[in-house]
Amino acid sequence: MHVLGIETSCDETAAAVVDGDGRVLSAPLTDQVAEHAPYGGVVPEVAARAHLARLGGLVGRALDEAGLTPDRLDGVAATAGPGLIGGVMVGSMMAKGIAAAAGIAYLAVNHLEGHALTVRLTDGVDFPYLLLLISGGHCQLLVVDGVGRYRRLATTIDDAVGEALDKSARLLGLGYPGGPAIERAAAAARDPGRFALPRPMVGRSEPHFSFSGLKAAVRRAVAGLPPGPMDPSDQADLAAAVQVAVADCLVDRTARAMSAAAAAQPQIRCLVAAGGVAANRMIRDRLDGLAGARGWTCTVPPPALCGDNAVMIAWAGVERLRLGQADPLDFAPRPRWPLDPDAPPATGAGVKA
Ligand code: KG4
Ligand code: ZN
Repeated sequence: MHVLGIETSCDETAAAVVDGDGRVLSAPLTDQVAEHAPYGGVVPEVAARAHLARLGGLVGRALDEAGLTPDRLDGVAATAGPGLIGGVMVGSMMAKGIAAAAGIAYLAVNHLEGHALTVRLTDGVDFPYLLLLISGGHCQLLVVDGVGRYRRLATTIDDAVGEALDKSARLLGLGYPGGPAIERAAAAARDPGRFALPRPMVGRSEPHFSFSGLKAAVRRAVAGLPPGPMDPSDQADLAAAVQVAVADCLVDRTARAMSAAAAAQPQIRCLVAAGGVAANRMIRDRLDGLAGARGWTCTVPPPALCGDNAVMIAWAGVERLRLGQADPLDFAPRPRWPLDPDAPPATGAGVKA
């Protein structure tokens, strides 16, 4: 089985061919950091145009490198949401065109399901597992019982964790994308304990997240520094304080969810992290320590497969195709598409949760 995957939901344009055994035959990817950097964040219209300009070439490269023509594929899978709708439409139309022309299956993949299933490709993780999904748009804890079977235990009531890192980085003058910039700056910290930042929600019984208070505290800390461009040592110490505060929140909330998940389903002994923020070394190490202390395993994809990519979309396509699933060509892209549509809203949640 061979599936072509397409990812265009945010600021990565990517295509990949993956086979039924999880072998990655090709995975060309371009980011749009240069296009969006002047604005300090992703501009949807700019992103959609960049996807349109690049996707055709990337799909051609993915097929060439895999040594396949479209008629030799079994399916074509594209992110159909959630994400920036202009980009999602570009990827969806490309996939539908290829599927129609080659007479193969079309799979409208939920981008979050791509993140959720990646560890099955990289590490062969079996269902069920507890997933900490940490990206620029989402911060959730879910029990993954199977393909398409998700039970959300927690979500953020305001900002996603990556969003908080990106906004904090901007306040620190570290630019975009913020998560990697914070990680780099934090590595140079001499006094990581110098700035006291809050740990929102820590200790609460329900495992939900909140990050807007952390962002506000970073703003206050920056305002308390001398005016003008920030001193690199202040930047480094504050970046380290942000990183450890975020890690503390993630570990505390995940620990709660592990208890809740294990109480309901004792066979769950595997913690999985996914999404761009899971590329962070400190966060990976802290989650690994948490799992180990409870006799659980912890599996996180390699950093290159934590952030957005088309390998995970192709793989989600493989998983769905194996179950006999496919989607009609009139499937409408979905800007919002929760993995667990039945989850009750979190108490105090804003519109985004
Ligand atoms: O999964 P992703 O690539 O896109 C979304 O689906 O949102 O996640 C992007 C997020 C951004 O907020 C970015 O700052 C963050 O992941 N990120 C990181 C790191 N690399 C990317 N955060 C912390 N440490 C990193 N090394
Ligand atoms: Zn993502």
